[in-house]
Amino acid sequence: MTSALLHPFSKPSSDNFRTLVRSEGVRVWDDEGNEYIDGLGSLWYCQVGHNRAELVQAITNQLQTLSSYHTFAPMGSQISDQAAERIRSVSPFPDGRVFLCSSGSESVDSAIKIMRKVAILRGEPERQIILRRSRGYHGVNVGGTTLQGIPANREGWGDLLPKVLEIDPTNIESAASIFKEHGQNIAGVVTEAVQGAGGVFPPPDGFLEGLRRLCDDNGSLLVFDEVITGFGRTGNWFASDTYNVKPDLITFAKGVTSGYQPMGGVLVSRALCDLFEQDPDFVFMHGYTYSGHPAACAAAIANIDLIEKEGLVERAKHIGKRLSQGLEALKSDGLLSEVRGVGAIWAGQIEGATTEQGLAVRDKMTEKGVICRAINGALAFCPPLIIEDQDIDHMIDIAEQAITEIMNS
Ligand SMILES: Cc1ncc(COP(=O)(O)O)c(C=O)c1O
Repeated sequence: MTSALLHPFSKPSSDNFRTLVRSEGVRVWDDEGNEYIDGLGSLWYCQVGHNRAELVQAITNQLQTLSSYHTFAPMGSQISDQAAERIRSVSPFPDGRVFLCSSGSESVDSAIKIMRKVAILRGEPERQIILRRSRGYHGVNVGGTTLQGIPANREGWGDLLPKVLEIDPTNIESAASIFKEHGQNIAGVVTEAVQGAGGVFPPPDGFLEGLRRLCDDNGSLLVFDEVITGFGRTGNWFASDTYNVKPDLITFAKGVTSGYQPMGGVLVSRALCDLFEQDPDFVFMHGYTYSGHPAACAAAIANIDLIEKEGLVERAKHIGKRLSQGLEALKSDGLLSEVRGVGAIWAGQIEGATTEQGLAVRDKMTEKGVICRAINGALAFCPPLIIEDQDIDHMIDIAEQAITEIMNS
């Protein structure tokens, strides 16, 4: 008999899961008493570490004050106003506005609808083409599924959104030629600044700048999906700052609350806000029951405060240096063929490993008490931004042992 829970991204026929029961700092424990270092910050999101009293208290206080309420017109809440203000204060759009939802997938589908609405409000309703990037991951709602550049995540669900074209993830000429042919009809480009779930690929030099230029030249929008990279992961509050390229929209989720409450959202630049605000009769007909949920808003504020107070944005750089040095040492030893990353998100490609061997290395590491993610023969790390040096070094030691054992077996 399988369990009642139908797990995401899993085989429904299998019931082989580790059952977690407790978390603290950078560690989690299962129901058999095994301890693990959380090398992936759960699923790329836990910036401040687990079970932080500041967040638990802030969420509890909020639930005891205004436990839940929607923000559809004509209602609002003090805490949702405060959260939006706090989020935009650290964003590349301090004079923009913040749409809130509950996940990265919702943020991506919201951004797609905003792109289309912008085209319509500008009197260009035919501008509906969206460009996606190979290897991209944008969640699992229908819009985000269509924008996936990972075929296995996109295929097998029947017809998806029309008018989506794919660009090469490294060669800007691929985007340039599509713009040359379709420029007037392109609503915009959606891309992660650093491709995460596809295997951790920072952008090639000049690539994001190239997209910005193509969008500007053709009247299209540039959307950065910063669901993983937002809130300190790359060594700045947003990867847009790290790469010094300003998009028109930024999607976020994960690190905004470090996962203590589900939250996602879209940061909207001032220029687009002006467009939405200019007609007093225009109604933004989009929103979710839980847009601006009080508990999620309280979590976001406390989380951003904690990231700031503990200097975790800066600390991401230190973590990245130590982690990448460790991975580079494995590369020098011939265990890895490539080391990729920025800030505190890194991956090491295991020399000669198939996808299955990568998964076997991951399983061996989990057995030895370190959680990471295996992607196409690479091991990905995205630890909480409070991780100590000795735990980083331990993750590298365990990776070395596991790679050696699996690749020599
Ligand atoms: C870049 C990116 N966009 C969107 C999503 C989807 O977020 P969620 O799983 O919260 O819906 C993810 C999740 O990993 C992501 O990495």
